[in-house]
Amino acid sequence: MHNALKKMITKDLIGIKNLSAGDIETYLSAAYEMKALFSKTGKKSELFAGKNVSTLFFENSTRTRVSFEVAANYLGAHFSAMNASASSVSKGETLIDTGKNLDALRIDTVIMRHPMAGAAALLSKNVQASVINAGDGAAEHPTQALLDFFTIKEHLGSFKGKRVAICGDIKYSRVARSNIWGLQKLGASVTVCAPFTLLPCGIENFGVDIELNPVKAITKADVIMGLRVQLERQEKTLPSLAEYAKFFSITAERIQAAKATKAIIMHPGPVNRNVELSSEVIDCSSSTILPQVTNGVAVRMAVLNLTNEAKLNKGASK
Ligand code: NCD
Repeated sequence: MHNALKKMITKDLIGIKNLSAGDIETYLSAAYEMKALFSKTGKKSELFAGKNVSTLFFENSTRTRVSFEVAANYLGAHFSAMNASASSVSKGETLIDTGKNLDALRIDTVIMRHPMAGAAALLSKNVQASVINAGDGAAEHPTQALLDFFTIKEHLGSFKGKRVAICGDIKYSRVARSNIWGLQKLGASVTVCAPFTLLPCGIENFGVDIELNPVKAITKADVIMGLRVQLERQEKTLPSLAEYAKFFSITAERIQAAKATKAIIMHPGPVNRNVELSSEVIDCSSSTILPQVTNGVAVRMAVLNLTNEAKLNKGASK
């Protein structure tokens, strides 16, 4: 299957920035197969029978961690969750030493979330296990972006000529960065919409359109993606959540004013109702927020499987 393309997939998935459009399409095609597999009730794969998958999370998470756990279970893996605050890391062990211990435990795949940008890349260079980045600081969150691409393709059929408006905290969001890199590789255009204080330095070099007016930002959008204002990463919240909601929230009125009623509404979760998106918009019929969660399982099954295959192929060619 997709042999010419698959060669580009490596044992680790650290970010979208270094993937080609072909690599992304390879992950998406594999995710379609995985979705068909787990949609059949009771059908479990044996692809990961006898393999150990572990999460190593240094930051809070609900859906991403559970999504990886469900994906590992559907593949027939043994799953263990290492909670970094309750592990030896909190006793001063370095990340590399923790990784070497995971290798010694014969963990095949480590899924890590860490507050520092670059942490997953560092770990991947020091362990035998496959490393999947489940979020490193504000840098990348590749499996979230892949599930977003999968959902867009499922609803719109293709990326070429499509416009995605990403509205919310762009500055502190790894989801924004992974989506911006990947959507452009796939042929879509991206508009970002946020107050200046929530746009990163150098945004003008990201290849995106920048719009401070939410109605203008979503005019002609095929996809409207809301992002949470990431209070936990900010020293000061500027603007306040109430001000953000008043001037930037994507509401039904703003969607009407922009004539963007055909756009699909996305959000990686967790949503702050009536801040980045109004409650009415979150629950409307064109919202794909819950289908995104379902698609996340299929995408993570594909990522676990393809990174593992890449590791085995590399071992075989040595
Ligand atoms: C995102 C994250 O952690 O980066 N959530 C997620 O993985 N579903 C976005 C967020 O926390 O707002």
